[in-house]
Amino acid sequence: MQYEVVLPAAGSGKRMGAGHNKLFLKLLEKPILIHTLEVFQQDTLCTGIWLAVKPEERLYIQTMLQEYGITKVKSLPAGGVERQHSVHSCMKEMEQVDIVLVHDAARPFITHDIIANLVQSAHTYGAAIAGVRAKDTMKKVRNGVIEETVDRDSLWMIQTPQAFQYDLIVEAEDVAEKVGFLGTDEAMLVERLGHAVHIVESNYENVKITTQEDLIFGEAILRKRAL
Ligand code: C5P
Repeated sequence: MQYEVVLPAAGSGKRMGAGHNKLFLKLLEKPILIHTLEVFQQDTLCTGIWLAVKPEERLYIQTMLQEYGITKVKSLPAGGVERQHSVHSCMKEMEQVDIVLVHDAARPFITHDIIANLVQSAHTYGAAIAGVRAKDTMKKVRNGVIEETVDRDSLWMIQTPQAFQYDLIVEAEDVAEKVGFLGTDEAMLVERLGHAVHIVESNYENVKITTQEDLIFGEAILRKRAL
């Protein structure tokens, strides 16, 4: 089962405080964006990459793609104000495929086996997303006071990739756009249609590089994998 992947890469990375797109920061000498792209460049199930970028960064990124031999990128549409808009501008250009994956460009440690499990699950059920079980005790807090201790067994921390049958994600995005609904992930748009979204257990290494300390975790993960 083959798929195409949408990689939103048009964020500003404010929480990183790098003063520019955090995806250009390097982990062991290579930009974060390239680490992520290489996973899909090498994944035999992936037939195309759609990369949402800031228009002013397009040329720089295209040069980077050439330098690192990334050939699967089909288009670099302009990203939007919110991540969901960036994903949508890629989806508007994509033609019918079996399965669409949406994956944060800022998650460079995704593995081929998790991708394969997601693609298989989306093929069977329509929608499947990566997640890990909550590790800590979870409490609901209001105004600095515990309101409730939440049953941890039912709580998952959600990551990307999120995988969908093409027609389902197109419909979910169209409906969301029509009513002006903004979700924090693509699964929310599908949930709103009343469609079941399945979880594929991922791992804790699939972090989103967000703040300075994630750069340290990231390099540690790469060093461990190189052993
Ligand atoms: O900011 P955060 O890391 O949570 O964003 C997740 C991903 O979405 C990043 O890869 C970022 O570049 C991308 N993004 C985007 N367009 C936006 C905001 C974020 O493509 N407007």
